[in-house]
Amino acid sequence: MPSIDVRAAATDSSSGAAHPVPGDLAGAVAAAVATVRRNAAAFGTRYPDSTTRENLYPLRPATAEFAEGANRDWTTSFWPGMQWLAVELTGDADLRASALAHAADFARRVHAGEDLDTHDLGFLYTLSSVNAWRLAGDAAARDAALAAADHLMTRFLPSAGIIQAWGDLSDPAQRGRTIVDSLMNMPLLTWATETTGDARYADVVARHVVQVRTHLLRDDDSTFHTFYWDPESGQPLRGATEQGAGDDSCWARGQAWGIYGFALHHRTSGDVDSLRAAERCADYFLAHLPTDGVPFWDLVYTDGSDAPRDSSAAAIAACGLLELASVSHDAGTAARYESAGREMLAALVAGYTPGPDQASDALLLHAVYDAPKGKGVDEGCLWGDYYYLEALTRLTLPGWVSPWWPATPADDGTDGGNA
Ligand code: GLY
Repeated sequence: MPSIDVRAAATDSSSGAAHPVPGDLAGAVAAAVATVRRNAAAFGTRYPDSTTRENLYPLRPATAEFAEGANRDWTTSFWPGMQWLAVELTGDADLRASALAHAADFARRVHAGEDLDTHDLGFLYTLSSVNAWRLAGDAAARDAALAAADHLMTRFLPSAGIIQAWGDLSDPAQRGRTIVDSLMNMPLLTWATETTGDARYADVVARHVVQVRTHLLRDDDSTFHTFYWDPESGQPLRGATEQGAGDDSCWARGQAWGIYGFALHHRTSGDVDSLRAAERCADYFLAHLPTDGVPFWDLVYTDGSDAPRDSSAAAIAACGLLELASVSHDAGTAARYESAGREMLAALVAGYTPGPDQASDALLLHAVYDAPKGKGVDEGCLWGDYYYLEALTRLTLPGWVSPWWPATPADDGTDGGNA
């Protein structure tokens, strides 16, 4: 394990200084891209499962409805998302062709109406289809992303002002429920407003984000994973967890989604309350890290615990901290978050990536999908790999433009920088 103290970095408010990055980012990028290339050759047009088994990705298992390796569930887009990052880093024509083939499959999925009962259409169609449109001009991918945005809009419950996260809209267990992760699905709707000129998508984003900020961000700056509203009256009911240690604990990945999602919403909308919410999520996250800077899967655990780490939460948080630094209004605050993001990525590079002789096709080791259900504990995962490569890309590719950003950032007085 590395001995980098991210909490100390987070209190370093030096501004304007160069940010030295421990570790070898060029070597880390080369290793990550080599793994993406190997996996693309191995998987072809099929999809790996969400998490590894003993650090190797099996194909997505068959179900009653879907063949082995089919495009189903919420995580498949992280795979072409990684390929697009590798294309941007290297210009690799084979990976570009592979990512475009996945975009065609995502278009097929949305037009066929396959497995769309989820708010995660944002993750799914931003990384597969918006990327194919903005990086390769694929018009069918643009249409697919708009179809996905339209489907996501059907999940908005006007009484509660939220997009329902999971399940069929008539499912009594899920009706009126949203989750902090939903913030990362908002960029698809923002993109749809920009692309079509139709303000309805952005209006729904604005209403949803206010509700998440008001009810899922607690007074102590931690977050509920999920929250229920009465779907008829719209009354807020209660917070509850799904993947955290308890209803009142703070699930590490949820807090990381909060950092990144609120920071992105500030970039898009200029909303200062969302900037403050991102800072509150970040400060709580950074204050609840163990000494090596990579969180346990729930922030209730601290140094000395034998609970598993969630490296994917650190990868998301690293991107979120760098995003937050880039939209921050104050140079000292920006430097503090940038430093923390860089240190967190360095901790991942140093202590959570496979060694040269290790049998792994994950980019990042030691993540947790869902500890209460015993799913993907201490394994690699597709979203951990994606955000790890995104963080590396942010810090090594000058002028990189994020798929999560609107094409026209809100004029909020910041420089829209590339951290
Ligand atoms: N968005 C689901 C998860 O983070 O596990």
